[in-house]
Amino acid sequence: MKSKIFILIGPPGAGKGTQAKNIAVTKDFVLISTGDLLRENVEKKTELGQIAKSYMDKGEFVPIELVAKIIKTNIQQNLNKKGFLFDGFPRDLSQNVLLDEMLNEFNLEVDKVIYIDVKDEAILDRLTNRRVCPKCKKVYHMKYNKPKNDETCDDCGIPLITRDDDKPEVIKNRLATYHKVTHPLVEHFDKLGKVIRVNGEKSPKEVETEILSLI
Ligand code: AP5
Repeated sequence: MKSKIFILIGPPGAGKGTQAKNIAVTKDFVLISTGDLLRENVEKKTELGQIAKSYMDKGEFVPIELVAKIIKTNIQQNLNKKGFLFDGFPRDLSQNVLLDEMLNEFNLEVDKVIYIDVKDEAILDRLTNRRVCPKCKKVYHMKYNKPKNDETCDDCGIPLITRDDDKPEVIKNRLATYHKVTHPLVEHFDKLGKVIRVNGEKSPKEVETEILSLI
């Protein structure tokens, strides 16, 4: 059976990572989150990670050849799986051309794009109060999605961390880049009738329920 391909798109802080993990588990999809995979390389101080870090810390795109390498490996390793959920890729129209080429190679195509819509005004609050478990990567928010014990992961029991790119000046840069080059992808997929729009300003559970009911 052909694997289904879903893409999550939305501004930084829209809740893509929060939703992606739950959707992938519930639907038994392979999750390919370029941000998480790049951060894993940064933590392990791989050659790729050391190059990627200098871009990520400024909120800039990591060179595409590095990202492409990670994605292709992940697709190849999971070809017999039910579906793939992409979070963070493609990020502009040229990355989408590359995705099409990769999918063609494996006789696959994009099924639907899940667009999580959140207004800019909510983003700064979401990202400056975000905390992440360095081990299991679970995402928390210190107001809306608090850990049970102050600043400690509910599952791993270890201290949560703040991402290096969650500084106000870097957030501004990431948001501007999103509007300039990533959002046009929503318009592109809209023309193909592939966009599922979700209001990302409801509670995480409501957003999850809505997405699951639509895919
Ligand atoms: P990436 O990790 O993909 O970052 P992003 O797209 O900026 O998105 P975020 O991870 O910041 O936000 P999110 O939407 O996942 O929100 P979250 O669920 O955490 O990429 C990081 C960097 O890697 C890039 O800047 C770039 O350098 C590089 N990179 C990645 N992909 C690349 C590519 N393809 N090409 C080149 N470079 C690439 O939620 C945010 C907060 O809000 C959390 O605290 C959460 O608890 C809270 N929250 C979530 N949902 C809700 C809700 N419904 N209500 C209230 N709070 C909520």
